[in-house]
Amino acid sequence: MESTDDEVAALLDELDRAELVRLVHGALDPEGTATGYLPGVERLDVPPLRFVDGPLGVRIPDRRATAFPAPLALAASFDPSLARSQGAAMGREAAAHGQDVLLGPGTNLIRVPHGGRNFEYFSEDPVHSAAFAAAVVEGVQSEDVLACVKHYVANNQETDRATVDVRVGEQPLRELYLPAFRAAVDAGAGAVMSGYNSVNGTPMSEHGRLLGDVLKGEWGFEGFVVSDWFGTTDSVRSANGGLDVEMPGVTGEELASLMGMDEGGPDVDFDELGGGMPDMRTAARFETELAADVEAGDVSADRLADMAGRVLSQMASVGRLDGERPDGALDTDEHRALAERVAVRGTVLLANDGVLPLDDEADVAVVGPNVDEALLGGGGSSEVTPFVSSTPVEGVTERAGGEVTVAHGVEPVADLSFFEETEPPADADSSVEDAAAAAADADVAVVFVRDRATEAMDRPDLRLPGRQDELVSAVADANDRTVVVVNSSGPVELPWREDVAAVVENWYPGQAHGDAAAAVLYGDSAPGGRLPVSFAAESAYPTTASERFPGEDGVVEYSEGCRVGYRHFEASDDGAVYPFGHGESYASFAYRGAEQVDASTVRATVANTAERPGREVVQAYVRPADDANGDAPVRDLAGFQSVHLDAGEAVTVEVTLANDAFRRYEDGWQEREGPFVVELARSAGDVRATVPFERP
Ligand code: BGC
Repeated sequence: MESTDDEVAALLDELDRAELVRLVHGALDPEGTATGYLPGVERLDVPPLRFVDGPLGVRIPDRRATAFPAPLALAASFDPSLARSQGAAMGREAAAHGQDVLLGPGTNLIRVPHGGRNFEYFSEDPVHSAAFAAAVVEGVQSEDVLACVKHYVANNQETDRATVDVRVGEQPLRELYLPAFRAAVDAGAGAVMSGYNSVNGTPMSEHGRLLGDVLKGEWGFEGFVVSDWFGTTDSVRSANGGLDVEMPGVTGEELASLMGMDEGGPDVDFDELGGGMPDMRTAARFETELAADVEAGDVSADRLADMAGRVLSQMASVGRLDGERPDGALDTDEHRALAERVAVRGTVLLANDGVLPLDDEADVAVVGPNVDEALLGGGGSSEVTPFVSSTPVEGVTERAGGEVTVAHGVEPVADLSFFEETEPPADADSSVEDAAAAAADADVAVVFVRDRATEAMDRPDLRLPGRQDELVSAVADANDRTVVVVNSSGPVELPWREDVAAVVENWYPGQAHGDAAAAVLYGDSAPGGRLPVSFAAESAYPTTASERFPGEDGVVEYSEGCRVGYRHFEASDDGAVYPFGHGESYASFAYRGAEQVDASTVRATVANTAERPGREVVQAYVRPADDANGDAPVRDLAGFQSVHLDAGEAVTVEVTLANDAFRRYEDGWQEREGPFVVELARSAGDVRATVPFERP
């Protein structure tokens, strides 16, 4: 049998220059389903390749797919096996829709709490992000669909994302921003999408050092690099810098049909977005210029062959060159159940004075401006239209044994959509007083509050939009058994948190919103989630200075270095309100017999000391034994393990520690000097056992 390399080499011999160029830039999909489309070469039986958004499920205009929980919710499960399952399900749905490449996972580190796409990403921690990035890639590709990891690299904000120059030191780049991409590459990712932004003066779509030397050189990436849509500025510099495929490859005029927008364009004010959107006139560089660039000797013929060869190799790796195309599966019972399971498992119990889980027979007032809709996600390329969905009112009503009343209280929070016409904020159909009265009449009040976020724009602040804080305070005054369910894209300020009986972070849970929330509220499922991002007062984040965010004169300085997320809060007087890794349980846990197993493993026995089942997430952080960490962060997450424990059950949990936690990037990777302490913890702020740890 011919090897893939031979097959690709034979094709490259046959393809003429125009055909090679045709394999490295997008075109319009005649079927109108793909977000990005390579037409293939019919003469040589190279089929078309279809790319589709995105990280929350498959987005195709006028088509439906399972709306999975946002990646941040998935990541809050601290269970990469769920990410593998969700990746596989999204891969099957992409295949069922005739697509070959899924534009995800998004693996940018969460640096700025306001980030408009934080819901599309995993975490503020590199080891945690890396585990999820790798798992999603493995899952998607297990279905013979290619994963496209995005947006490489340091695309950590939406404000001016198309033009901003990120000034970042080599140490934070290596220790924080690159590891999740490296993990995705190690997991075999077929494609990497370059970010719109520049890094240290060079646009990522032409970054010879980061695309060529690091990604393809040091890491041995054999797949292809695809530009973000309209994210190229120069054909020669891109091709020579390491970009292999330009997308979408068509001009702005063709955009409306390509992106499924109405003739009037998206329902978003692009002027308002400013530098959040790329210049859509700067398209089709490879189509119009690359052949001439090669002719002129500005791009070598070998380089063009390498670009096309990378695409062909990846097509071969999923059988496309042999005419194989998986059937996939769409909206199956299994996918519906998985969407609910992930939403449940990612739900974080932030605080609980004992009101939760709810009594089956309690009379419940369901309060909140948007309780009649499932929160499917944020705005932008990740928007998915599901076949089914469950709203908070439906979820609670189906589960409740007592009476359920509903009050909206304040005007609804309008979604920010690129594709759907969004309603202007409607008037409230009930008042704050009505909601408080409903709460007073019930045994318990459950208030659902939410933020709103979209690609291409950062959140203006960390407050809940509209009058939701006022609503929560009024309901809490009326009923001291008030539970607040927060549906947010990332950290939000919760000024009333001390005045309510429980707070639950339920993120953007996707189509199973109501059912998943009810399962946790009534204790049918343990709240298995932990925070993958620190929650703190807006003024306490390290990105408060404008040169750090959103930047000044087109430049953003990552001068906080490695002090991002909990790495900042632990060293600051103004700590986190809810630290990274935090999450309460309905059960309680004891840690015993913590010890080192070998050079990269610790173990401890964890006992569920409660009379009900629960889920514990054992987190292992590394720090030097003598506390002399110099300028380095106090502790680094090295590994974690999520375990289910029946009432009274004890299990021995082994946690594998990432090598990265034991090294620093200072003029190359350097092993850190021991001895170390490994802390087994319930969060970055709640250490339960310490283990002296030797590295050979
Ligand atoms: C986004 C990408 C997306 C692409 C195609 C871009 O604006 O940044 O994440 O995959 O559009 O929709």
